Amino acid sequence: MVARVIPVSPFDLVLFGATGDLALRKVLPALAHRFADGQMPKGARIIGAARSEMDSDTFRAMVGKALADTPNPAPPARRKAFLARLDYVTLDARGDAGWQVLRDQLRGDVIRAFYFSVAPGLFEPLAERLDRWALVTPDTRVVVEKPFGHDLDSAQALNTMLARHFTEAQIYRIDHYLGKETVQNLMAVRFANILFEPLWNARFIDHVQITVAESGGVGGRGAYYDGAGAMRDMVQNHLMQLLCLTAMEPPHRFDADAMRDEKLKVIRALDPVAPDRVVRGQYGAGESGPSLLDELGNPGSDTESYIALKVGISNWRWKGTPFYLRTGKRLAARVSEIAVTFRDPPHSIFGENARWRENVLVIRLQPDEGMDLRVMIKEPGPGGMRLKDVALDMSFAEALGDDTPIPDAYERLIMDVIRGNQTLFMRGDEVEAAWAWTDPVIAAWAQAGKRPLAYAPGTAGPDAAAALLKRDGRRWREVK
Ligand code: BG6
Repeated sequence: MVARVIPVSPFDLVLFGATGDLALRKVLPALAHRFADGQMPKGARIIGAARSEMDSDTFRAMVGKALADTPNPAPPARRKAFLARLDYVTLDARGDAGWQVLRDQLRGDVIRAFYFSVAPGLFEPLAERLDRWALVTPDTRVVVEKPFGHDLDSAQALNTMLARHFTEAQIYRIDHYLGKETVQNLMAVRFANILFEPLWNARFIDHVQITVAESGGVGGRGAYYDGAGAMRDMVQNHLMQLLCLTAMEPPHRFDADAMRDEKLKVIRALDPVAPDRVVRGQYGAGESGPSLLDELGNPGSDTESYIALKVGISNWRWKGTPFYLRTGKRLAARVSEIAVTFRDPPHSIFGENARWRENVLVIRLQPDEGMDLRVMIKEPGPGGMRLKDVALDMSFAEALGDDTPIPDAYERLIMDVIRGNQTLFMRGDEVEAAWAWTDPVIAAWAQAGKRPLAYAPGTAGPDAAAALLKRDGRRWREVK
């Protein structure tokens, strides 16, 4: 990847929840990489804030260790220089302790970003205190991590609460999938080429499969995951975003509101999903670890670690082309992709018996980011016109001829926060629309009293998921 690094303006970034898992595993390493690449100017500072009593040196040591443990850490000298940009404030999110100290640390003439890397229960106390301590300047942004609500009501309440303290232009609701390079590439593939767009509709596309398969389990996140499940944890946000970017109309410009207006239209056009178009599963125990129920510590849990659904979009472009979504934990492989299967040509000049495979465009989000287009060609050699499908396979890393690792989604997103670019963040109405579609799906399966099906770890999920497509005469792509 050819990196073109444009330094951002000086900033103070206050990271609430700085000693938590997300901060240490994702946010701070992302900042360290941007620093190592020269994107942070001299006046860029990061202030960790959390409840634990410690001084800045102890915090720097803690972050230094976390950075060393990440994949592809920056060179040691750059890490050391990055740590010098960190400070720490012990702060009580629900009380007054520490707020004056934080206030004294902030400079008046630079961009301010407050990053809520905390449990959702702390969003409101933090927002209130930022306001009460007069820390919100016109150049302030707040970054809100997921989960953004648990259902429509709670998301609306959260939006209303945030609107009391900040303008919409100051609120950055993160969905880290939007920061993934290849997710952004989806927009480039669609809107920077003439090739696909004329065919990008129900007339030429038979169906779309969106898969986000994970090989890992729930691990130590049971307390959050139980009651959330794959629908709330992955479909309402990440898969929904992938669906929107695949299905939306071309925005007139690549800017925040133009993009989000188009995504919102897609969400509003989604059909309700009947319980018999949903398959939910729970992984059992295996070599890779204990069962979901054991990890949740709740033998009666109804939470799903796998979900597959058939989704229809009622608009002119897509009516009649189903989108099949699936995501799950402890599956055979970690693979995320969008596969667009085209319809057959209207007539075969090669006769009834010619072996035929559909054209499929696969956009691989991870791993081995790239694109693969399956096309029919003549099989070489004598013996008449025999057809064969082959892949025009492109790995972005190879095509771009560079072995620079693809930046983590958080790197791009945090720099966009500082730049004030909301294009890759969700607007309040978009999140609410996503919940408005999600809630009835969950309510319908709850009412139908359908329990999740067991599946063996290391597989593609419950067998019933295969049946969901089979009855439409289709097949899932392999998870491998
Ligand atoms: C998070 C979910 O938002 O995304 C996790 O809460 C999930 O459950 C993760 O594992 C997947 O992200 P990625 O970037 O590893 O595909």
